[in-house]
Amino acid sequence: MAKDYCVLGIESSCDETGVALVRVSGQDLPVLLAHALYSQIEMHQAYGGVVPELASRDHIRRVLPLTQEVLHESGKTLKDVDVVAFTRGPGLAGALLVGAGVACALGAALGKPVLGVHHLEGHLLSPFLSADPPEFPFVALLVSGGHTQLMRVDGVGRYQILGETIDDAAGEAFDKSAKLLGLGYPGGPALSKLADVGNPEAYKLPRPLLHSDNLDFSFAGLKTAVMVQAKKLANVHGCGVEALPGTVLADLAASTQAAIVEVLVKKSLIALKQTRLTRLVVAGGVGANRNLRAQLNAQCAKRGVRVHYPELHLCTDNGAMIAMAAAMRLQSGIQTANAVYAFDVKPRWPLDAIQIAVE
Ligand code: KG4
Ligand code: ZN
Repeated sequence: MAKDYCVLGIESSCDETGVALVRVSGQDLPVLLAHALYSQIEMHQAYGGVVPELASRDHIRRVLPLTQEVLHESGKTLKDVDVVAFTRGPGLAGALLVGAGVACALGAALGKPVLGVHHLEGHLLSPFLSADPPEFPFVALLVSGGHTQLMRVDGVGRYQILGETIDDAAGEAFDKSAKLLGLGYPGGPALSKLADVGNPEAYKLPRPLLHSDNLDFSFAGLKTAVMVQAKKLANVHGCGVEALPGTVLADLAASTQAAIVEVLVKKSLIALKQTRLTRLVVAGGVGANRNLRAQLNAQCAKRGVRVHYPELHLCTDNGAMIAMAAAMRLQSGIQTANAVYAFDVKPRWPLDAIQIAVE
């Protein structure tokens, strides 16, 4: 591989089509030249959640126009693309196949190598695209729609899982609670917005595994507790849950958010203490949550710990993180891009599977 090259990244694992171009110069941190995103949220809203077949079809419609947009914006052409990276998993099988198929077809047409990326590694490395990039080693709190993990990160591909959710992810807890409060899909941002005007101490909701001595999480019980509380309130007010007064819903949303955030913050602090690391990286969609950021910042400042986040618009799924993860894997020498255009996808793919052997 030449010293300077461009990596095109394609993300299509769920309900966002993302494309981006990054430039790699030697061992410098790769630079984002342009990225473009199309969110399918509006299309899925009518169904209250992601409809996989509709997602795949929409990725097909968006991916090439987005690629053209990215090339145009960065002043490049397809000839300038040296490596085509795509999300290989985890995610929705049909949706992943679109990105993988397009990436491999582009690679074959251009005679350029391709590289399949782990979606969670993309999230994990996305803070390196921010104005305040972290340095290895660090503790990572990965909080997406499907995953909640704490890990020790010593370098690219050197990930040691310290704890993870035994059932629902934090994002799922936000989404499912939001759905039963009638806040629609995707619930996280809506619940978080409503929580801003509510009282977080209004209702006592469980903090699962808060006092356990390990770094695992469990959020499945929380949505049930939210449902029981919501039904109780609906009985009192003589209405359905969705018709509860705005202030009541806001208090319930704030109490739900407080329960999720408290557990995430407490476990992150324990992970920092156990590893004696002084850097925390937060990645994944829930990392956009303002309350989580505020509480982590406050607690970490007290302990002399620096916290790094992706730029707000790169917290949720995007192509930039895929191009970045591919670029950093190539730079670190742990992976090569190959001119092999037969592709597969990995809808289920634990992050441990891409961990390199640590001496
Ligand atoms: O990382 P992501 O875009 O997709 C996955 O890889 O899963 O994360 C999406 C998740 C959803 O559960 C969404 O509700 C949540 O991130 N989310 C938020 C916020 N923004 C997105 N949760 C809480 N507060 C937010 N501001
Ligand atoms: Zn994601």
